[in-house]
Amino acid sequence: MPVLVRTDHPDPPCFNPVRFTRACGILLRAAAGPEAELSVLLADDREIARINEVWLGRCGPTNVISFGQAEQPGQEAGCRILGDIAISLDTARREAGAAGLELDQRLESLFVHGLAHLLGEDHELGPAEEARMAGQERRLHTILSKEKLMADLCINVDHVATVRQARGGREPDPVLAAGLVELAGADGIVTHLREDRRHIQDRDIRLLRETVQTRLNLEMAATGEMLALAAAIRPDIVTLVPERREELTTEGGLDVARTEASVAEAVGRLHDAGIPVSLFVDPEERQIDAAARTGADCVEIHTGRYADAGDPEAVDQEFDHLLARARQARDLGFRVHAGHGLNYRNTARLAAVSEIEEFSIGHAVVSRAVLVGLTAAVREMLALVKRGSAG
Ligand code: PXP
Repeated sequence: MPVLVRTDHPDPPCFNPVRFTRACGILLRAAAGPEAELSVLLADDREIARINEVWLGRCGPTNVISFGQAEQPGQEAGCRILGDIAISLDTARREAGAAGLELDQRLESLFVHGLAHLLGEDHELGPAEEARMAGQERRLHTILSKEKLMADLCINVDHVATVRQARGGREPDPVLAAGLVELAGADGIVTHLREDRRHIQDRDIRLLRETVQTRLNLEMAATGEMLALAAAIRPDIVTLVPERREELTTEGGLDVARTEASVAEAVGRLHDAGIPVSLFVDPEERQIDAAARTGADCVEIHTGRYADAGDPEAVDQEFDHLLARARQARDLGFRVHAGHGLNYRNTARLAAVSEIEEFSIGHAVVSRAVLVGLTAAVREMLALVKRGSAG
């Protein structure tokens, strides 16, 4: 991880650690390049007072302290460890309260200040240096103001349609489900119209296009039939995925490296219809390089191997792969999405990766909805059976 954030506080105040970690990652990368690394300690007043006294010979707590690090012997080539920043959550909270700010905003400002020190600025040297450091901090704040501090969450409603298709009837309706998903605050709706129409139907896509208020992301194979349909329906974005009839779900990413010309042609046709395009790819360097040559706007990185990894070491390894590929894609100018197999245990770690702008999650959310909704559903049926009323 380029930024390692550690919280060491017996009773930390309420703040958003995902947002903070993303903000630190964005700033570090913008200010010191993709290979830079640093660590942040979020401590209490007691700990920061101790650090202040031991290392700086100063008395009492403070808000932020930076420790720059000279290059170390044996440091990996290209890797640039800037140093450590310690922030007191207690002082930050008091300062946020006094200034009428959210604690998250104050923490970002303190990180900006600490980072400016690590970049060589020092306001204590005199008025000229103070003005220079203030300018650097303003630049960093401007960078942050243009970035997404929280990723978008788009929900795939295919599995609602899967349950409907099990009986071939009308319920549950994925269009209604999409409305509820939006009411709950999701940033977008995703559906995959498969060639065999095993779950989502053409009627669903038409109605979703009319009713979705956020963004409609249509996943589809790059076939002539689907390209024509997309041009007619005009979703907000198309994600091109590979499709095999016998697969249970989209098992791998598009092999863009092997089919670059045809993918580029499909991207061109969708662009001609005014539709931005995302390519669903495995976390492999050559696939992302090939994707960049097709003219696509986004890549959605397949997170299945990370989600399926068993032991913690394998999970870490897959996470590192995803991080490296997300950075590669971002450097190539892509907007980066991620999805497949993400659930209530493995998503938060990825959500802190500032390069990933959007998550596409389906199965875990629909599965949980079945379970958390089951008690109410049974009670309503019990009321009918026992008392003749659902009320
Ligand atoms: N992204 C793509 C491209 C997919 O094909 C799927 C599966 O339909 C998902 C995300 C969502 O995966 P899951 O249902 O495992 O959350």
